[in-house]
Amino acid sequence: TASRAAAQRAPIPFGSAAQIETFREDPLYREALKRYCDVIVPMNDLKWEALRHDRSKFDFSGADELIAFAERNGQAVRGHALLWGEALPPWAKAMTSRTEAERELIRHIEVVVDRYKGRIATWDVVNEVIRFDPRPEPMRDTIWQRLLGPEHVEIAFRTAARVDPKARLVLNDFAFEEPSPLIAARRQTALDLVRKLQDKNIPIHGVGMQAHLYAENPIDTHGVQLFVEALGKLAVDVEITELDVIDWKLPADIATRDRAAASLVSTYLNAVTTARPPKAIVTWGLCDRYSWIHETFPRRDTAKARPLPLDADYKPKLMMNVLNRYR
Ligand code: XIL
Repeated sequence: TASRAAAQRAPIPFGSAAQIETFREDPLYREALKRYCDVIVPMNDLKWEALRHDRSKFDFSGADELIAFAERNGQAVRGHALLWGEALPPWAKAMTSRTEAERELIRHIEVVVDRYKGRIATWDVVNEVIRFDPRPEPMRDTIWQRLLGPEHVEIAFRTAARVDPKARLVLNDFAFEEPSPLIAARRQTALDLVRKLQDKNIPIHGVGMQAHLYAENPIDTHGVQLFVEALGKLAVDVEITELDVIDWKLPADIATRDRAAASLVSTYLNAVTTARPPKAIVTWGLCDRYSWIHETFPRRDTAKARPLPLDADYKPKLMMNVLNRYR
């Protein structure tokens, strides 16, 4: 069975993203992060919008607070993310020239990676650079793509590697798990991107699969396995970086939804892990009280989304049992 297979494997570090506002105001949230996590990811505080609100100075306050907490508790930190087309301050969105974009991107990565050198072991170097439908144009239309072309990925990886040669460098992206030609094309595009970097001798150590799973859709277990195996052949690890369950289309009944979510997560983790154990399994939050799913995937009824392993009162749900098999 899945649980017996899991028991014979080395434990996989488990972690969660942590939101600074909640972290500051809810002691139970801090307690849960401490109790359940081997890995902490600042959810928003290493994004450009948080660090670079003012063009002239960096604001590390939120990130520093979360990272200090992780260090006090002996937890590892994942850095999210050095380059993304979203969460940019207005001045960055308004950049107009190649020179300016390249200068800002390189300086940003130099300053941020250097500050946390030896403390942030893993970086999401680029986040969501693949176009949702990558056929025929693979790269997402962002300020980086518009001003620098596809080379923005290389610039980001090369700079991060130069500043912290020991850091694990990850390409992070979403929508790799469903059975459809579009999703298969996304997986192929990720493989092509890894290959292209390797051909140019640019280090890439992992592909992060966000794994925001839609409860109404099946998992392409075979496709996911082939993907993870193909990455293994390229000597690149996988990690699950933003796991949660989007349950907006499921009936309101709580028991039904929790069973469906746990079973979906189980199917997914089993597929990934049998192909090749991921470096980490990270959820995008811990507790249903706080999740981006509430705003981004609102339900049409008055029921609350239940995307995460703990319920709104911090009680472990079935999903937590599934996650515990891998720890
Ligand atoms: C989300 C956060 O959870 C929200 O708090 C924020 O308002 C927007 O960003 N993919 C990513 C994450 O890579 O950075 C996003 O996080 C969720 C989707």
